[in-house]
Amino acid sequence: MTKMQDTGRVAGKIILLTGGAMGLGEAAAKRLISEGARLIITDHNAEAGQKTALALGDNAEFLEQDVSDPDRWIEIIAEVEEKYGRLDVLINNAAVTVYGSIADVSYEDFKRCFTVDVDSIFLGCKAALPLMGKTGGSIINFSSAAAMNATADLAAYCSAKAAIPMLTKSIALYCAREKNGVRVNAVLPGTILTPNVQSVANASPDPDALLEQFAMAQPVGHMGEPDDIAHLVVYLASDESKFATGAGFAVDGGLSI
Ligand SMILES: NC(=O)c1ccc[n+]([C@@H]2O[C@H](COP(=O)([O-])OP(=O)(O)OC[C@H]3O[C@@H](n4cnc5c(N)ncnc54)[C@H](O)[C@@H]3O)[C@@H](O)[C@H]2O)c1
Repeated sequence: MTKMQDTGRVAGKIILLTGGAMGLGEAAAKRLISEGARLIITDHNAEAGQKTALALGDNAEFLEQDVSDPDRWIEIIAEVEEKYGRLDVLINNAAVTVYGSIADVSYEDFKRCFTVDVDSIFLGCKAALPLMGKTGGSIINFSSAAAMNATADLAAYCSAKAAIPMLTKSIALYCAREKNGVRVNAVLPGTILTPNVQSVANASPDPDALLEQFAMAQPVGHMGEPDDIAHLVVYLASDESKFATGAGFAVDGGLSI
């Protein structure tokens, strides 16, 4: 391990980031590393996760994790505690997008969406809080603009993402009551051009038309870039946001207005 940077907005912070192999997680990981963090990224895609961690350099490591597995959460937090003695920031980013209207989506897929997107946050916070509460810290939960703007063909995803800001508020109030120094906030991105969004477009009959449709959904007329969200994550991970808790931060080109 190289010497930790002693400058930067999150210098020396121990940060656990789920779903860090690609997309918004990877973009946030890059920003956090450049601001001096020590990062543990997890993902169920071990090959991509290892590759990303390697590219991030000596201050990043990878652990394989299915975020919907309760036992794995316990193991990972125990590993972090043994190695670092504390956890400063938990970023619950991993999720799946399940497509389909109420007529099309199966009950199995509906439940899978909630298990990966919502249960994972419950499990992660429950497992991490006893450790984080010893020293204080910041929890960042990824929701979506879809939490506020319903789409007929995203019945499972919209409702799962809507549960996250409320779960975030409840955990934030618990932490405030406990005076454990842990802040808990939600991030609500609009449509951001990630590999996931690009692959959805590629799978459609007219990818360019769908990308244009995604862009025009935002009142500003374009999609966001992964760094638009990564900068917010750095702010929430840093002590700059020390008075923010229980909030939902929309970065969505006006989609939720
Ligand atoms: N990209 C967007 O436009 C957008 C918009 C709003 C919200 N979001 C949210 O932001 C977050 C990141 O989005 P993204 O576009 O980068 O998604 P993505 O699908 O590209 O990345 C998600 C990561 O999570 C991992 N993952 C999926 N299921 C997992 C599981 N069970 N266990 C562990 N890892 C798992 C994937 O392998 C992937 O690396 C998600 O919570 C998403 O819902 C994204």
